[in-house]
Parts: sequence; structure tokens; C-alpha cells
Amino acid sequence: MSLASTLDIADIARLLPSLTDRFEFPDPRPMGRPSGFGAVWRAHDRLLDQAVAIKISDSDLSSEVRYCRKIDGHTVRVYDYFERSGWYAYAMELLAEPWTTIDALIGRHDGCDMLQRYLDGFEVIDAVLAALGHIHGVPYSRERRHVHADIQPRNLFVWWQPKGNPRDVFRLQAGRDLVKVIDLGLTVQKGEWHEGRHPNYANPGRDVAHHGHDLYSAAVVFLELVTGVLPSHHTMGHSSRVMDHVIAHSSGSIAIDCIAVEFANEAARAGVSGGPTAARLRQLLASWLFDLPPMHLLALRELVRQQPGPLKKSEMAALLFPVYAKHLGWKNATGSRTEAIQEEVLEMADAGLLVRDGYHYRY
Ligand SMILES: Nc1ncnc2c1ncn2[C@@H]1O[C@H](COP(=O)(O)OP(=O)(O)O)[C@@H](O)[C@H]1O
Ligand SMILES: [Mg+2]
Repeated sequence: MSLASTLDIADIARLLPSLTDRFEFPDPRPMGRPSGFGAVWRAHDRLLDQAVAIKISDSDLSSEVRYCRKIDGHTVRVYDYFERSGWYAYAMELLAEPWTTIDALIGRHDGCDMLQRYLDGFEVIDAVLAALGHIHGVPYSRERRHVHADIQPRNLFVWWQPKGNPRDVFRLQAGRDLVKVIDLGLTVQKGEWHEGRHPNYANPGRDVAHHGHDLYSAAVVFLELVTGVLPSHHTMGHSSRVMDHVIAHSSGSIAIDCIAVEFANEAARAGVSGGPTAARLRQLLASWLFDLPPMHLLALRELVRQQPGPLKKSEMAALLFPVYAKHLGWKNATGSRTEAIQEEVLEMADAGLLVRDGYHYRY
């Protein structure tokens, strides 16, 4: 733990008087959980009459401040930097509700239905990948090729404002940035030596910075977010063990479980040569999930909620009729409508959303 997390407000006033001259500290303790490099406090900027967050540390934070400024948009805005006799602090944008750390989200998700938890998890990780893609920069370019090196749930903030949309199972898609990556204290250029990452999330034994290590950590975060249980590195090491982990905390849908496993495996092997980039992983997620017809996903959700056993095509069409009727404004089941839904069942099976077993379909 950092020395900074042992400080109270009187200590801060003694060590960094220019900070307390300008900023008021309304809470008796720092925000968030104690961690390795510093302590982050909620504060009020008297000069600008504005709420801010202030990170205080006994280590020089200047490179973190520089990275935050360089990697604009997907990380916090930094306002001011302070230093006095070996103590350092910077004031930054306060990430308040609905900004929520993935750490808090993992706890809060308890009780939510598992399928929705997976679907939310895919949306969140897609936004994490968008942010990481920005941090990692364009392959082969010399500019902006950074590795965060400490991707973990506490360092990822999500704009968590899920909205119910009767026409879509996805709840977060909006025309805004959904994720901010914080804590750029360990950020390094690609190819540099790095250490000090969180042992639960960092790819073990990888000490040279590579964008794939952030993606490996993102895969661990994703599995923890959707299953509610942190997978070990042993689990991450083999696709069959990742499969066991997912099945033990299943979404309720074979297809969604498989997409989660495929995604985690792809992301976990991003560190090996020829492995995917963040942009490539986003393309895969789009083709496997986000680009599927919304009605198919609504139909799948209905099946997971009702939990029928294996059904024949006609039985499945009858079960799904109310879902289609609601969306298409149908009142009665005519022959052609029933046929159209049976066609949908076939399409869902072709797309892998349903599994065919002879004349029966499972979800
Ligand atoms: N800008 C911010 N707004 C709100 N909370 C923040 C902000 N920055 C950090 N925090 C909280 O403080 C915690 C520690 O911050 P972080 O920068 O990760 O420090 P450390 O280097 O000590 O891990 C975060 O996990 C988060 O809960
Ligand atoms: Mg941190």
C-alpha cells in the first residue's frame, strides 16, 4: 500500500499546503479502495467552484499526467499538478454517477438475470476495447503505441446507465464514449520492460509491454464480469477450462456461452505473435453478436426466460409467437405468420443461436 493512503486531511494540509489552500476535502477518507500508488480524494476546487478528484502520492506522477493528456478522451482529464518535498498530487475530472467502476458493477450485478448479465458484459467489454484500441494506437505507427499494463476492474470506469429498449436486448448502445481507463501510472511504450501489475489480471511471466497483455487482462475482466467469478490464469490457459468456467456460471444460452468462450480465448491469446488487436476483437464481437438480427436475440431471450425443453420447429414457433406479435403488431396467428416464425427458427439455427437435434431445437 502507498504511504499516501495513510494520510488524513491534516497531513495533506501540512505536506501540500498549496493543495488545501485551493481545494476543500469534504470527506474524511479517500474514495475507492486503498491501492499501490496513491490515494484518490473527492475535493472541491474553490477557485473554479467545481467538484474534482485528487490523486496524492509519494511517487512522482508526472508521467501518468502526461499519458492522461496524450491519451485524451478515453481517460480522465487532468487539470493541475502539484509537487512539494517528495509529495505529488494532481487534480482531475471527478467520475461521478453514472460513472461506475467495473469492480462495483461486478458486485451490483448480483440478482440480475444471467443472460442480461452476459449481454451487458459484451457491451461493456466492447467499449473497453474501443478505449484500449485508442491507447494502443495504430499498428506499425510510431505514435501512440502505449500499453496500459494494469487493466483490472478498479481501473475501468463505465458510463452505467442501462436503458430498457423493447426492440433490442442491448441496453448501453448510445452515441457516447462508455468507458474511461484510469490509473495510467504503469503505462509504457510498447516493447519496454514493465512490472507491478495486478497479479490476478496480468498475463503471468510477460514482462515486456505488448498490447496483447492488456487484451489478456481484458479477457479476465470480461469473464469475471459475466460469470461473477474471477477465472485463474490456469483457467485462462486452455479453451476447455474457459468453457468449464463459463458453463459453471452459464448465461442460460448455449450460443451466448460459446461466444463468451470464443471471445475470451481470442483475447487471451492476443499476446502471442499474430494475435488479434483490440480493433480485431471488436470486429469479431460485431460479427458474432452485435450484428445479429435484434429479433433473433429477443427470441433467444424469451426462450432463456421460459426454459422449455427441446422443441420441434412448430412448437418453438408457437412459443415465440407472442414475441413476434408484440413487435409486429399482430393479433392472431395466421398460417403465413406461423410459417414466417418457423423460418426465423431455421435462420436462428443456421446462425448458431439454436442447436438442432434431429427434429428438435435447443437454445
Ligand atoms: N477521476 C476519478 N473520479 C472518481 N473516482 C476515482 C477517480 N480516479 C480514481 N478514482 C477512484 O480511486 C481509485 C484509485 O485510483 P487509481 O488512479 O486507480 O489509483 P491507484 O494508482 O492507487 O490504483 C479508483 O479505483 C477509483 O475507485
Ligand atoms: Mg488503480
